[in-house]
Amino acid sequence: MNIQTALNLDDIRELARRALPRIAFDFIDGGADDEHCLRRNREAFQQYQLLPRYLVDVSHRDQSTVLLGRRYASPFGISPTGLAGLFHPDADLLLARAAAKANVPFLLSSAANGALEDVVKAAPEHVWFQMYCTSDEAINADLVRRAKAAGVQVLVVSVDVPVNSNRERNRRNGFTRPFRMTPGVVLEALAHPAWVLRYLRSGGIPMMSNWKPYAKEGASAAEVADMYGTLTPAPMVKWSHLQRIREAWPGPLVVKGLMHPDDCRQAVGMGVDALVVSNHGGRQLDAAPSPLHMLPAIRAAVGDDVELILDSGVRRGSDVVIARCLGAKFSIFGRPTLFGAAAGGEAGIARTLQIVRNEVDMVMAQIGCRAFDELHPGYLWPAPVNSKPVEPIKPTKPGAHEAAPVTESLRTTQETTT
Ligand SMILES: Cc1cc2nc3c(=O)[nH]c(=O)nc-3n(C[C@H](O)[C@H](O)[C@H](O)COP(=O)(O)O)c2cc1C
Repeated sequence: MNIQTALNLDDIRELARRALPRIAFDFIDGGADDEHCLRRNREAFQQYQLLPRYLVDVSHRDQSTVLLGRRYASPFGISPTGLAGLFHPDADLLLARAAAKANVPFLLSSAANGALEDVVKAAPEHVWFQMYCTSDEAINADLVRRAKAAGVQVLVVSVDVPVNSNRERNRRNGFTRPFRMTPGVVLEALAHPAWVLRYLRSGGIPMMSNWKPYAKEGASAAEVADMYGTLTPAPMVKWSHLQRIREAWPGPLVVKGLMHPDDCRQAVGMGVDALVVSNHGGRQLDAAPSPLHMLPAIRAAVGDDVELILDSGVRRGSDVVIARCLGAKFSIFGRPTLFGAAAGGEAGIARTLQIVRNEVDMVMAQIGCRAFDELHPGYLWPAPVNSKPVEPIKPTKPGAHEAAPVTESLRTTQETTT
């Protein structure tokens, strides 16, 4: 099997597993704690079925859709993923280029290796910028300023990493800070010579370029990563941080990671334009519900007009269609395009996007849907027990939970926030 004969996203994952040393593959593939959440994200989709309508002329099908005022060729895009340069040199640039060619959005992470200025230049119409609020307000403001100066059109603030999570695969493999090159890691890596060669040729540990300006002059990649680790996660971040970003950023603002309907309502009330409903791909809170299951309650909380983007566990075109029927205008996914990059560079990413595009198209034809925007809950059958229109959860006092104390001990796991 190779990238062109890969039939689905599982095949792409398998190609990446062969191409990457275990420590790198597991960093992408793994989740928090027992990985229940990771599995729940996939299982959620299996709880819905699509009931086809036949005798509809589906010879022409249109999966393009408008999100935040711009029409994309497909109703999905690429989630932000930090440290992508570890899996393929210049992965962020490749992701941006592949996204532009497919006319879908790519959410560039601030924890990326590519500098936001360079990546935006490569695909100015398609690159959004995602940031976390750090403990340093001046840096937060500077990131917003740089995004504006670079011509970023959509800013995304991720809020679901108050502390590092417990990713046991990483800890077992030694993927922690400071990074230790143990004999086991070296031996494993040597079994993947093409990756090792690319890694060494591109200069070893890739630089977290967005953070270089805030580190001391001439800092190494490891020193920049360490400095980043002192700034984020930032457990003191609260609604007022988001408010300041809203005030500083004139364009569309998206918040990624809110799952409680009350929080979603509060963000919208604050002027946030769209929400990425996400549990960080099961990488943070293992006990979190799947975003798919939260969609009806969130839709009820924020009303009909706010655009919802579903993230976490999307692996098939049918998932994108199901998410749309439940109220998410758009879906994004993170691991599959990283696997594509690891397995085949830009061609691997393009193939990943093409597979999902073909699947969306085929599912639309199968259920008698000519235009993606015409999908509605009536295509779902049977309504599973937990997808009954959910009563909006009784609002709690806005900001009431802000006072909860956060202890230093929550910052124990030494990992880079991604
Ligand atoms: C290797 C890796 C790095 C990630 N880095 C970030 C990040 O920097 N910022 C962020 O908001 N989410 C990050 N995420 C989470 C993704 O944006 C997304 O929520 C998740 O991958 C979705 O789940 P999926 O992989 O099942 O599609 C990362 C995910 C992975 C796998």
